[in-house]
Amino acid sequence: MSQKNYGLLAGKRGIVFGPLDDKSIGWHIALAAYREGARLAISNIKVAFRLGAVEELAKLCGDAPLIACDASSSEELETAFAELKEKLGPVDFIVHSIGMSPNIRKKRPYEDLNYEWYHKTLDVSAMSLHRIIAQALKAEAINDGGSIVALTYIGAQRTFSSYSDMGDAKALLESITRSFGSRLGKRGIRVNTVSQSPTKTTAGTGIEGFDALYDFAEKVSPLGNATAEDCANYVVTLLSDLTRKVTMQNLFHDGGFSSTGISDSLLEMLYGKKEQP
Ligand SMILES: NC(=O)c1ccc[n+]([C@@H]2O[C@H](COP(=O)([O-])OP(=O)(O)OC[C@H]3O[C@@H](n4cnc5c(N)ncnc54)[C@H](O)[C@@H]3O)[C@@H](O)[C@H]2O)c1
Repeated sequence: MSQKNYGLLAGKRGIVFGPLDDKSIGWHIALAAYREGARLAISNIKVAFRLGAVEELAKLCGDAPLIACDASSSEELETAFAELKEKLGPVDFIVHSIGMSPNIRKKRPYEDLNYEWYHKTLDVSAMSLHRIIAQALKAEAINDGGSIVALTYIGAQRTFSSYSDMGDAKALLESITRSFGSRLGKRGIRVNTVSQSPTKTTAGTGIEGFDALYDFAEKVSPLGNATAEDCANYVVTLLSDLTRKVTMQNLFHDGGFSSTGISDSLLEMLYGKKEQP
């Protein structure tokens, strides 16, 4: 079903960090932002341009400028924001859709993390948000009244054994969101995280036991798991002027998972069909 365009982002400009391919949450956010009238730039690490389908996305988003940048490098971000200003001007929104854990990729158990990789997880998945916002401010590349959104997971609040050091990274990411949100309020800039359901993307499916995590969440969530497209539609509301007073929040976009203890469908799965009264 094609999605209606509400013109929520007409006249706005922004940058989306992290689309890789058509499964990526960032991919769908870029498409939804474009559909809602925004002009945007797309960023990822150089290797992702080769491995992913980012050029195709740029075409689908009105020949959006592509900006290669490792978001864990302040130097590369400095260059990236200079390029962004040159190609698009200062922006009204920034989306951080970046995550990676070498420990998860290489199946190191949480009790025996490789600390260099742990550092990398925190740097790429969380500190990168700090670096992005700090460099955007230094470059005067974000407008007053703007909106910054980063993607997170409920593994920041509750332990999901296979989520390993990403849970720690997401807790840091959410804290950085609050710390910057309080500082940028005077400029009307909002900073929020969206805590998304398990989603079948490259980063998601790299987590051991992802299918079980996905199926469990599907059974527990009254509305079922939210897809990447659903997430994109929610995120554009946060980038729009309709949510000007929402900041420093971790907003669950998970079909109700975060508020559910146990569900009938999970009970049925564990104990068999429910007896009819
Ligand atoms: N998939 C899920 O189940 C799920 C659930 C909740 C939240 N999230 C979050 O959503 C966000 C997007 O992930 P996704 O699931 O769409 O997976 P994805 O693999 O499509 O996207 C992750 C992106 O991070 C990029 N990246 C990695 N290292 C980078 C670096 N140094 N600099 C810049 N970019 C870098 C990758 O190239 C990739 O494009 C992540 O923050 C992820 O943790 C995912």
